[in-house]
Amino acid sequence: MKQTTRRLITSALPYVNNIPHLGNLLQVLSADVFARFCRSRGYETLYVCGTDEYGTATETRAAKEGVSPKALCDHYHAIHEEIYKWFNISFDYFGRTSTPQQTEIVQRIFKEVDAAGYITEKESSQLYCPKCQRFLADRFVEGTCPHCGSKDARGDQCDACQTLLEPTELIDPRCGVCGSTPVVKNTRHLYIDLPKALPMLQTWMEKTSVDGFWAKNAVQVTKSWIRDGLKERCITRDLKWGIPVPKPGYEDKVFYVWFDAPIGYISISKCAKPEEWSSWWHDNEKTRLFQFIGKDNIPFHTVIFPATQLASGENWTMLHHMSSTEYLNYEGGKFSKSHGIGIFGNDVESTGIPADVWRFWMFYNRPEHGDVDFTWKDFQEKVNGELVGNLSNLVNRALTFISRFFDGTLGDGPSDSDLMKQIREREAEITDLLERAEERDALHAIFELSDLGNKVFQETEPWKLRNTDPDRTKTVLRTLVNLIRDLGIMVTPYMPSTSEKLLSMLGLSGQNWDNLGTEAGNVKLGEVSYLFTKLDNAFVDALKVRFSGSQEERAATESASVASDKKNSDKKVNTVNNENTEEKSVAERFAEKVVLKVSKIVEVNKHPEGDFLYILKLDTGEEEPRTIVSSIVAYYKPEELLNKNIVLVSNLKPANFRGVKSYGMLLAASDPNAPEHTTCEVLFADDLAVGTTLCPEGLSNPEGKMFYVKPDHFFAMPLYTKDGVLSVDGKALVSANGQKVTAKKYINGEVG
Ligand code: MF3
Ligand code: ZN
Repeated sequence: MKQTTRRLITSALPYVNNIPHLGNLLQVLSADVFARFCRSRGYETLYVCGTDEYGTATETRAAKEGVSPKALCDHYHAIHEEIYKWFNISFDYFGRTSTPQQTEIVQRIFKEVDAAGYITEKESSQLYCPKCQRFLADRFVEGTCPHCGSKDARGDQCDACQTLLEPTELIDPRCGVCGSTPVVKNTRHLYIDLPKALPMLQTWMEKTSVDGFWAKNAVQVTKSWIRDGLKERCITRDLKWGIPVPKPGYEDKVFYVWFDAPIGYISISKCAKPEEWSSWWHDNEKTRLFQFIGKDNIPFHTVIFPATQLASGENWTMLHHMSSTEYLNYEGGKFSKSHGIGIFGNDVESTGIPADVWRFWMFYNRPEHGDVDFTWKDFQEKVNGELVGNLSNLVNRALTFISRFFDGTLGDGPSDSDLMKQIREREAEITDLLERAEERDALHAIFELSDLGNKVFQETEPWKLRNTDPDRTKTVLRTLVNLIRDLGIMVTPYMPSTSEKLLSMLGLSGQNWDNLGTEAGNVKLGEVSYLFTKLDNAFVDALKVRFSGSQEERAATESASVASDKKNSDKKVNTVNNENTEEKSVAERFAEKVVLKVSKIVEVNKHPEGDFLYILKLDTGEEEPRTIVSSIVAYYKPEELLNKNIVLVSNLKPANFRGVKSYGMLLAASDPNAPEHTTCEVLFADDLAVGTTLCPEGLSNPEGKMFYVKPDHFFAMPLYTKDGVLSVDGKALVSANGQKVTAKKYINGEVG
């Protein structure tokens, strides 16, 4: 049904140089569900997002890495794009803020706001680095804390004693980029006069009836901001990477990133629709602006950006519906890229779990009413219980039954009208919830409906009834087909690929929200297949280990259970090749760098801090026994390891695993076609004597002491089993007298 209003949808523009983790992904995903729902319901829809690129963080990072801010942004923008593509985000346009369109619109709005008298000027003193020729943001000044004497205090805070500081208080201040001594200099900045804009803002808020359309947290935060008194906010910065301030005397300054970023929604729309963007953004009659953000961004979207819009005097499309979520945490803590804790967009794909399954969990648990914790246990429970046990189960048992006993078609005829009435009522509720972007509640209601379907099937007992009352059996099954079709339509926003698969099994691809509650008609079933499979314990345990530690621990998991994925290792090997002009073969480089030594496991202990880690003591034939940490608890019992000979990478750079240092790793094979971390076979070498070294056939390790090999270099080696034999790049790894090591299970596997 063609709707009369249209939907302008945005999700918070992600900072370009953060790789998004599940928590960050929530906003683009939430807006995606809403956009897909709106399209299916017949609303004209425009969903825009893009990377937020300007500011201190980008400029400093680029300076440290020795690249231009533009190059840094290009690099990260591409990573974002790829991640969102994998998650199936249906942006109408994914842009960025570093465009000419952005500069033009930001400068235009600023000039209007200035001309209308909402910009003020103030002078202050700030630290300036003469060498870098720039003013230093507070947190980029380093020096000695005046309170505790710590030498690593920053201009905004001393981490050692937790005191909040002014940068000018630091003793011996240093520039955080180049280390030279900054000087105090006076500087002028521009401010937006929020107190002056307050009456306008309040009139607008009354008109919009924020209580109806804004998430509770947005109403609360905004009201308390206003209650505490609005202050003038500085909108300029002494930086180079940003939009130039078009005002005499401000030639060296750019706009503060939070002034320009929300305007990015507008400029990105212009990039998306060069002709029509202005009609989308200057229309409070037909266009409803829905914004999806995290709670930390609320005042920027409910106060500062609207105040800017109103102060400009243009008749901008204003915020209608604010969908601001609470936080998503990871296993009781925060996501941390530097510690490798949590799930980040760029490694989700490697779990082998489909995007729709992640999407399901995210919406089923969307933090709409309070913070939510991602735990692997809950992930497994919800996927196995709801997705597999409820939805997939209903679809599979009902459709398989129809295929088996009715040859895939029930013919024309009635459905159960009472049941249909009940279904339609619930569907109307689901539609209402989605209209308000209550995505979590709507999804729960969808699964309750699926549950109803399962109960009907169970109670009808069609496997018996078809013998006594075939007509009634068909009537019930037709109703279930209608319901399954409706579920297929209603999960479209949440799980687009699953929806497609389900509707195509029914031969009803392309149906949309208008078809809900109607008779599906004489459906002819295509091939019925499972929508989802269960996540088993070993698999989930292995993932839990993989995503729960430091980067080093992650490397260890990778080494113990599987080699890093094949594509990656090929890439890495190529890079090494290019660097190496002598054109050594991979096997030659392997012999030069890696020492493999047969060792006996003489002691097995569980790591007290790591559920999936063993601490193994090894006899390597050297004087001292060796300790290694190995994440194979999920695969082997201690008695299966004790007194066995294994192959040790004996010169791998030592690494810490939750407080225990590991001096090497053992080799294990895995199935390259199975999802990562689900298969693992330790390569036992019981026929070979302790202390024996292994090298590619015809080669040997160089004389004398060898250096450590870095994990990256080691994992780049194409190690695998070929017809059972441990090999590298086509050559078997053998002892001096030609003995080989073999796998029993994964005989053509990857080894790491
Ligand atoms: N980059 C900000 C963040 O990730 C969000 C900016 S939203 C904007 O927290 F639209 F206002 F840009
Ligand atoms: Zn400097």
